[in-house]
Amino acid sequence: MKRPIGVLVSGAGSNLQALCDAARNPDFPAVVALVVCNRADAGAIDVARRNAVPVEVFPLADFAGNTLARDHAMRDALRAKAVDLVVCAGYNRVLSDDFLMAFPDAILNVHPSLLPAFGGGMHAIEDALAAGARVTGATVHYLEPGETDGGAIVVQGAVDILTDDTVDSLRTRVHDVEWRILPEAVGLWCQGRLRRHGRRIEIVSSDKNEVRTS
Ligand code: GRF
Repeated sequence: MKRPIGVLVSGAGSNLQALCDAARNPDFPAVVALVVCNRADAGAIDVARRNAVPVEVFPLADFAGNTLARDHAMRDALRAKAVDLVVCAGYNRVLSDDFLMAFPDAILNVHPSLLPAFGGGMHAIEDALAAGARVTGATVHYLEPGETDGGAIVVQGAVDILTDDTVDSLRTRVHDVEWRILPEAVGLWCQGRLRRHGRRIEIVSSDKNEVRTS
């Protein structure tokens, strides 16, 4: 049975599209139950509508600039849909600890670098290029209270940086990796195949998998 997930977005929504594409496969263990967006002009809203997925928009202006009040409203909307997992797929704000603690071990984020390199900001692609790194990539990790881009790592994929790369050309190849590893990580989580040992995550094989009852 598919498990309901909520997806937080702020941007163009290409990672949301990748999740919707994956969810169309009957064998994929998740269904997008709600898209939560913090910007009224985000392309991701159209992506949600095109995929016939419910979407709710929470512009900060509706909360008189109070980010905590907005996080509470987003949390309540996700709870109302009884989501098992929250996926930040290009969400551009740091979530409050109140929000993070509402979904313990059940929030995944995709970040456009090989964490812990180039974490903690919105310019990981630019930073990797400026640093002259030979390799970068994408990471799906847990979001945890008190850790921006610092939670336990679930899946990573590497991308070579080429001599003639621009921000746009590199971003395109990093996106390709994100579209692969984000559905992969969501699938593993929903199958109960992620086992935590402190900061390290074990991916258990599907044959020794125990059924999760949460
Ligand atoms: C992705 O690169 C993601 O890693 C970053 O924001 C970007 C969102 O892209 N946090 P999209 O909106 O999914 O196209």
